[in-house]
Amino acid sequence: MCGIFAYKGQKTNAAQLVINGLKKLEYRGYDSWGIAFKTDHRVNVYKEVGKIGEFDVSTLQEKVDSPTESSMAMGHSRWATHGGVTKENAHPHYSADKSIAIVHNGIIENYVELRKELKEKGYSFKSETDTEVIAHLVQEYKDLGHIEAVKKALSRLKGRYAVLILCAEDNRLIAARRGSPLIVGKGDNEFFIASDIPAFLQYTRKVMYLDDDQMVIINDDAVFYDLKSNKEIEKRIVEIDWNAESAEKGEFPHFMIKEITEQKETITRAINQDEKQFTHIAQEIKKAYGTYLVGCGTAGKVCLAGSYLFAKIAKRHVNVTFGSEFPSLQDFITDRSLVIAVSQSGETADTLEALEVAKKKGAKVLSIINVEGSSMDRISDYAIHLKAGPEKAVASTKATTAQLAILTLLSYALDNRLEEGKILLVNTASQINDMLNPRYEDHILKLAEKIQDVESMYVIGKGSNYPMALEAAIKLQEVSYIHAEGFAGGELKHGPIALIDKGVPCIAIVANDETKHEIISNAIEVKSRGGYIIGISPENHDVFDYWIKVPEVGEASPIVNIIPIQILAYQLAILRKNNPDMPRNLAKSVTVK
Ligand code: F6R
Repeated sequence: MCGIFAYKGQKTNAAQLVINGLKKLEYRGYDSWGIAFKTDHRVNVYKEVGKIGEFDVSTLQEKVDSPTESSMAMGHSRWATHGGVTKENAHPHYSADKSIAIVHNGIIENYVELRKELKEKGYSFKSETDTEVIAHLVQEYKDLGHIEAVKKALSRLKGRYAVLILCAEDNRLIAARRGSPLIVGKGDNEFFIASDIPAFLQYTRKVMYLDDDQMVIINDDAVFYDLKSNKEIEKRIVEIDWNAESAEKGEFPHFMIKEITEQKETITRAINQDEKQFTHIAQEIKKAYGTYLVGCGTAGKVCLAGSYLFAKIAKRHVNVTFGSEFPSLQDFITDRSLVIAVSQSGETADTLEALEVAKKKGAKVLSIINVEGSSMDRISDYAIHLKAGPEKAVASTKATTAQLAILTLLSYALDNRLEEGKILLVNTASQINDMLNPRYEDHILKLAEKIQDVESMYVIGKGSNYPMALEAAIKLQEVSYIHAEGFAGGELKHGPIALIDKGVPCIAIVANDETKHEIISNAIEVKSRGGYIIGISPENHDVFDYWIKVPEVGEASPIVNIIPIQILAYQLAILRKNNPDMPRNLAKSVTVK
């Protein structure tokens, strides 16, 4: 949700460098963008509506009315929250006297009061955003000196922010965070600040994470402060193990298909980790009086699948809820509870809030996340990393199956059968390697061509594959824009079957287990009302009008069953001329509530 990137160093093409870095963060927001760069005693701002990926950097000079040579610049790609998609609402925002420019990610909850107060003092607003108040506040306090003015302005804000500030009269780049991510990259005599690492991965893998209520001032060095104690703090430099290629599309037309294909390796990476982690978390679950799995969207569906896996494999009950619903259930949480967050980004505001609520109640918090150093990673008592590499397509694919693999392995660890779980998942990874080939994709493409113009489609599953029916619907909705819904097969006859008409596609996810018989009979019920049945199953069946074969992998079936649906969703998006990497109205990580 909004990408932020800034540079300060020796290079003189900071403006162009920031535009190129922002292009790598476009998955975080793509409705408009803008940059600010410093020349002599001036802060220049340039903004546009539309996708930054489509901007030709070489045309920057002809579009701005000042020289573009600069060694300090910052930029922002926006996913609109406050105010429509207009050039005025795009960031950066100037202070009234244009001496200060601000980019911001997050939501300032008290911006209405601050706006009123500033208007009464004579400030006029050019945008409808919550961000603009920050720029005017810094100007309002400028007699305190630039740094103190920024600190004072930040102390007036309620809500979440990652904010960067450039000032015409100051050569320092300032950044601060509360609740929204900011990472500092350290190169040779140069620094980068970004909301996500891929923006600067081509320049450095040395990073320093800003925590909540911390500020960094970058000049020749980066100096960190704790805003609460107003004291300087030391920061550890962490070397990350992502390489620059892992954040690029390479030979693939889109990140989504690249990331789907990477599932050949990511399951193996997820499970080939220190076994002690799994046994440790299994012990924590055993000790806890009540375990909650919490996640949003796809990660929420993975949590639901986790509850089936824990029940079946380890005979353990765990509670499941969406991040946004967790605060309403908090009365049950005690200091003996365990809350496990599942997330790709580790930054989703609703999930993060659930962890914060749990921590306040004294509960232990764990997270299963992809992005190391993310907010959830930093506030958790313990974390398991997915090791899936950067996931840049908005629709989650490789992170989903890595999360499922980790929850499957945890279930086995809980039942003291970790080795058995590992053997199952190693076999699953090898079967996925064989499954993902051009012939398989072509077979799914034929189906996509057949159903590309339908208005609605449905997905049914049972047991641990019921959450996969829900997840399948999300995948189909978000990139193909076809109305899709997922159901527990047995629920159809209680209402939804009224939606079935002649030719309506219904995907039946049929695992080769005790649920098979019932889900097949649900598919027969749909077919007898005219439905077109697409079977995802290790074996063919008479009821299937179209069969997509998946390997037989026992309890790991949710992992293999979701993959052909990811491919189908991708191909439907392409056939319907949608950009699968940047679906409309969505952004990769939802850092606002
Ligand atoms: C859908 C999708 C989203 C995310 C959700 C949570 O494909 O990716 O539903 O799963 O926004 O995001 P994370 O996993 O980053 O917490």
